[in-house]
Amino acid sequence: MTVPLITLNDGVTIPQLGFGVWQVDDAEVVDPVLKALEVGYRHIDTAAIYGNERGVGKAIAESGVARDQLFVTSKLWNDSHKKADARRGIEETLKKLGLDQLDLYLIHWPATVKYGEEYIEAWDALQEFKAEGLTRSVGVSNFTLANLDTLNGETPSINQIEMHPSFPQLTFREELRARGITPEAYSPLGNQKEPSDLELPAVKGIAEQTGLSPAQVIIRWHLQIGNIVIPKSVTPKRIEENFDVFGAELTPAQVDALSGLDSGHRQGADPETADF
Ligand SMILES: NC(=O)c1ccc[n+]([C@@H]2O[C@H](COP(=O)([O-])OP(=O)(O)OC[C@H]3O[C@@H](n4cnc5c(N)ncnc54)[C@H](OP(=O)(O)O)[C@@H]3O)[C@@H](O)[C@H]2O)c1
Repeated sequence: MTVPLITLNDGVTIPQLGFGVWQVDDAEVVDPVLKALEVGYRHIDTAAIYGNERGVGKAIAESGVARDQLFVTSKLWNDSHKKADARRGIEETLKKLGLDQLDLYLIHWPATVKYGEEYIEAWDALQEFKAEGLTRSVGVSNFTLANLDTLNGETPSINQIEMHPSFPQLTFREELRARGITPEAYSPLGNQKEPSDLELPAVKGIAEQTGLSPAQVIIRWHLQIGNIVIPKSVTPKRIEENFDVFGAELTPAQVDALSGLDSGHRQGADPETADF
C-alpha cells in the first residue's frame, strides 16, 4: 500500500496519511505505534505535551523500520517559546524519541492569551534548528492568519489545524494554500466527541453506498480534498481500517456532500481564546 506523498514548500515530502498519538500514555503508546508501523503507516504525529515521546521512540526502535522510511513530527509546548527554552525543548524531544533529527517540528499553539507574542521568538528558534539539521522541516499549529503575518523569515511548511466534516475550515485552508502553507488536519474524525462526525447521517449514508466504514469515508474525504490526515486509534482493528483507504474513491458529489456538513463548531480549543 503506497501512501501518497505531499511536497511541502521547502521540498520536503510528507506521507499524506499519518498516525496520531494524542491522549495515549507513554506506557500504552508502544503497541499502537508498533501496530501502525506493521500495517504500513510511515508518519507519526506526537508532541512534547503528549508525554509519550519515549514510548513512540521505543516503538520506532523496536519496529526495525529504517529511519529514512519514517516521517516523525513533534511539537514545541507553549511554555517554551523563548529561544533557550525552545532549544531545551527540541533537545529533550530528540532524546526521548531516540532520534538525531525530526522530520517536522511545529509550534504547538500561538498561545497569545498566556504568552503574548513569544511565539515569534519560537519561530526564529525553529528556523535555527532547521539550519542546524535538528529537523528537516518547520511549521506551526493552530496559527491564525494574523499570527502568521507576524512571523519573520521562512514561511511555515505546514499549519496543523482542526479539520473534519463538521468543521472543515474550507476558506481558511485556501487562505493557507495561497500563502504556500500546507494544511494538515488534526482531530480528523472529530476526536469522537459528541456529536460525533462518524454518526452524521450523511457520513453513514455514504458509508452504506460505498461499503466503507464511516471513519474510512471521512479519511477518504480528507485525502481527496488534499489534506494531510493523522487519525488516532489505540484499537488494532481501527488502526488497520483507517489505513485501508486506498482501494476506494468517493465521487465528486460525495466529497461535496461531506464538505457541506460545516456546523461551525469546533471540538477542540479556539486558538484565539485558548488560555493554556
Ligand atoms: N496540534 C494540535 O493542537 C492537535 C490537537 C488535537 C489532535 N492533534 C493530533 O491529531 C491526532 C488525531 O486527532 P485526535 O486524536 O484528536 O482525534 P481523531 O483522530 O479525530 O479521533 C480519535 C478517536 O476516534 C476513535 N477512532 C479512531 N478510528 C476509528 C474508527 N475507525 N472507528 C471508530 N472510531 C475510531 C478513536 O478511538 P480509539 O483510540 O479508542 O480506537 C478515538 O476516540 C492526535 O492524535 C494528534 O496527533 C493535534
